[in-house]
Amino acid sequence: MTDKSTQPRVLIFDTTLRDGEQSPGATMTHEEKLEIAGLLDDMGVDIIEAGFPIASEGDFAAVSEIAKRARNSTICGLARANYKDIDRCWEAVKHARSPRIHTFIGTSPLHRAIPNLDMDQMAERIHDTVTHARNLCDNVQWSPMDATRTEADYLCRVVEIAIKAGATTINIPDTVGYTYPFESAKIIRMLLERVPGADTITFATHCHNDLGMATANALAAVEAGARQIECTINGLGERAGNTALEEVVMAMKVRNDILPYRTGIDTTKIMNLSRRVSTVSGFPVQFNKAIVGKNAFLHESGIHQDGVLKNVETFEIMRPEDIGLTQKNIAMGKHSGRAALRAKLKELGYDLADNQLNDVFVRFKALADRKKEVYDDDILALVADEQTNDAHDILVLKKLRVICGTEGPQEADMVLSIDGVDHHIDATGDGPVDAAFNCIKMLFPHKARLQVYQVAAVTEGTDAQATVSVRLEEDGRIVTGQSADTDTIVASVKAYVNALNRLIVRRQKSAPGDDVKQVNYRDAG
Ligand code: KIV
Ligand code: ZN
Repeated sequence: MTDKSTQPRVLIFDTTLRDGEQSPGATMTHEEKLEIAGLLDDMGVDIIEAGFPIASEGDFAAVSEIAKRARNSTICGLARANYKDIDRCWEAVKHARSPRIHTFIGTSPLHRAIPNLDMDQMAERIHDTVTHARNLCDNVQWSPMDATRTEADYLCRVVEIAIKAGATTINIPDTVGYTYPFESAKIIRMLLERVPGADTITFATHCHNDLGMATANALAAVEAGARQIECTINGLGERAGNTALEEVVMAMKVRNDILPYRTGIDTTKIMNLSRRVSTVSGFPVQFNKAIVGKNAFLHESGIHQDGVLKNVETFEIMRPEDIGLTQKNIAMGKHSGRAALRAKLKELGYDLADNQLNDVFVRFKALADRKKEVYDDDILALVADEQTNDAHDILVLKKLRVICGTEGPQEADMVLSIDGVDHHIDATGDGPVDAAFNCIKMLFPHKARLQVYQVAAVTEGTDAQATVSVRLEEDGRIVTGQSADTDTIVASVKAYVNALNRLIVRRQKSAPGDDVKQVNYRDAG
């Protein structure tokens, strides 16, 4: 048995709430951000990048509150290379038991051209801003954005300046996911060899997944000497996303023979976090996603099933329990009581308050009446759906009937409550979903455009629940809504209504151009 306590410790820096949330449509509410931060803190994440405080009042409030509540993790905020950003960031993170300021500027030729700074002017800006941050906070992280496309000599020069100005962590971002693992390692090795003072700070690796190499690049950087990995749950993030936390952590655990590093992560909490992030961000996890995908531990072929039954190690390199995936998929039915549901929810990682449990129980009973067997995935979909409802929702679906079939036109008849008042309408459409969405548009006119409409079955069988994801865009604001129901059309309408409720909150909280998605933080002006 390996003694892991002597292995080098790799810090896990989670940026789900900052880089992950920047993914179009992944915007989370204030309460959702606090919940996710609490789960990350409990899971043993070393540093939580909680947001970009200058981007909006909402981001500032979330980072401040997360900083106040964190029990174990260091709380970090992002700031561009200017004093105003850095001051605002400090105002938000200073409440933390352990605060960190993360400031950055694009150093590659392409990025230097944006603020129109030459190499010397940029070097001076880096010196001044890192010094300013360090005067406020003992824990300062500096990132040369697009580091992997920055000239080697210039990268060494600016890293040295940042270290001399007081940066305690130097992060090397592969901003556009361009690097190959060999290069990722080479850059870290070069910096460790060439930069004076490199041995006094921690190097971090921050990879994007545009070429599907984020995990490999992060691990290659660790082998070369990086001791902090920046990542997100489910690999959430702009474009193809960031390094997935669950992948790097489990790779170091499962292949500890060749990756002899330890982290402080309680891996049994991974699955619950993955589900919550998927629900609140509105980004479903692809079925064949490594570690947390629905099929990651599913053995379909006869040969595999036979092998796994005889000896699980024939086809499984890790145990489902290692990531908190319960193997006891006991079917629950209409005779199961409240206590059984509570026990099942606990087993699935949910400790609901009594009032929440009551609501879920009512829905569970209704589901059990409609469905022969209720599986873990059904219950998880139900809890997730319950958690998308908010007592403050302006729009609530009260009633829906649709007529569909081979003879058109398809028709929907709906009662929608708007601000507490019930409104009734019927409409036709090109199919039942279109007819139902037309009812919503007539009762609550809006100019949001439907960008994504996605349906997935939760379990097998024609009585399975459907989960529906809807993404809307209005004036650059992108929101996602989700819902689950055994009736696909009902789930679709509830997901649309959920997205609209989120849009209403976004409209109230920010004028167009005033929120995190709108701020071009890459402009270091
Ligand atoms: O990808 C990137 O370069 C970033 C920086 C802000 C660190 O997210
Ligand atoms: Zn990034």
